[in-house]
Amino acid sequence: MEIDRRTALAGTLAVGAALIFDIPAHATEFNLGKVTAIKIGASKIFTVGQSRILIYRSSSQKFLGYTAVCPVDKTPLALTGVSGSRITCSKDKIAFSMTTGKPTSKLAPLASVKVRLQNGFVLATVPVAASPTPTQTAAPSTTQELIETNKVPASTAVKVNTSIGPVMIIQVQRGSYIALSAVCTHGGCEVADANASTLGCGCHGAIFDKADGSVLQGPPKTPLKRYDLVEREGFLYFS
Ligand code: FES
Repeated sequence: MEIDRRTALAGTLAVGAALIFDIPAHATEFNLGKVTAIKIGASKIFTVGQSRILIYRSSSQKFLGYTAVCPVDKTPLALTGVSGSRITCSKDKIAFSMTTGKPTSKLAPLASVKVRLQNGFVLATVPVAASPTPTQTAAPSTTQELIETNKVPASTAVKVNTSIGPVMIIQVQRGSYIALSAVCTHGGCEVADANASTLGCGCHGAIFDKADGSVLQGPPKTPLKRYDLVEREGFLYFS
């Protein structure tokens, strides 16, 4: 089943989701951002925890989701393999229809992900087995070059994908930077830059203080994990 965009924009739960099969009982729904962030006829790949999912918005306004992994050779699917409504695995060159997930030959289809729209946002339900809890307690790499300092304006949070998952890099004071985990401590959705002083989670309305990750508005009770950064030759690193 698929979703009618008008239903979603009207703010109603679009329960006719793009669920096809293989969704285990234990799964979590993630907010992938605004519907308008995916152009008509285009695809986008999202990282949810440690899994990648591909969302395709068809020319008839249907949103379909798949685990962004080639089911045959298990290599990641990439947008460079997208051509119209087809995607081709980079290694074995098998092509799949993004309207059905089926391959052009008799092989296993892409693994479908349940997608629905709510209040103009795209929500995807990702199987827990394919989305292990982000390793926010793992030690960050101190050698990974995170971002140039001049790309982080004051009071602006810039998302960077790192070895421990996505983080928001913030210039809290002139020349002083911190990183906050971009994974909401409530249900694992990604937080986004809300305004000069806060980050917001679109899933259930949480608001976090940019200065230290503390919770300003629930439902989460735990602050975003904070990491100290160090600047070396114009680039930021975990310290
Ligand atoms: S997942 Fe962020 S508020 Fe619920």
